[in-house]
Amino acid sequence: MTYQVIIPAAGQGKRMGAGKNKLLLELDGIPVLVHTLKVFEADAACTGIILAIHPQDEAAFKVIIRKHKLTKAKRLVPGGEERQHSIFNALKTVTDHGIILVHDAARPFIQKDDIKRLTETAEKTGAAIIGVPAKDTMKKVENGVVTTTVERSSLWAVQTPQAFRVPLLLQAYEQADRDHFLGTDDASLVERIGYPVTIVEGSYDNIKLTTPEDLFFAEAILKKRKT
Ligand code: CTP
Ligand code: MG
Repeated sequence: MTYQVIIPAAGQGKRMGAGKNKLLLELDGIPVLVHTLKVFEADAACTGIILAIHPQDEAAFKVIIRKHKLTKAKRLVPGGEERQHSIFNALKTVTDHGIILVHDAARPFIQKDDIKRLTETAEKTGAAIIGVPAKDTMKKVENGVVTTTVERSSLWAVQTPQAFRVPLLLQAYEQADRDHFLGTDDASLVERIGYPVTIVEGSYDNIKLTTPEDLFFAEAILKKRKT
């Protein structure tokens, strides 16, 4: 069972406030982007990486890809205004009918076993996402006042990768484009065309590096993995 992966990397990293794309920040002396790409480079089931990049990062990313011998990241496509546009640009270049994953470049701690369970599920069902059960009590709040306490057992924090059969994801993206609908993840586009999405339990370590404090969590995860 093989798959290709779209990796959106064309953001600006505004909330990280590093003055450059957060994917260029280093963890253990290696850029975040490389940590993420290496996971797929090392996974024999991954047959290709399609990387969506911002034109301003193109030169730097190409140097990094060469330096770290990342042979699977051959296809670079221009990113768009929003994450969804970046992924749509990448998806339009996919011609096969197999399984496609979408994985944020800003989640460097994804592991091969979780990718395997996810892709196997997507092969069976057509659409699968990885996530973890919510740990906190969740409340709905309006104008500063709690309206309800949401039943926690039904709530999941959803991550990437998300995995789909190519024609299904393409259909969902084309429909969202026609409707000018912007979702916060890929599965939401598939859900809105009425297709069931299966959830696979992943790891709390699979964090997205978003704000500066996430870098402390990242160091802690790396330290744990070395022991
Ligand atoms: N991304 C993208 N194209 C965009 C926006 C985001 O490819 N137009 C990518 C980012 O590079 C990142 C992933 O989508 O790998 C998740 O986005 P996010 O964590 O929001 O990163 P940024 O958009 O870079 O950060 P911010 O929102 O703080 O500017
Ligand atoms: Mg963003």
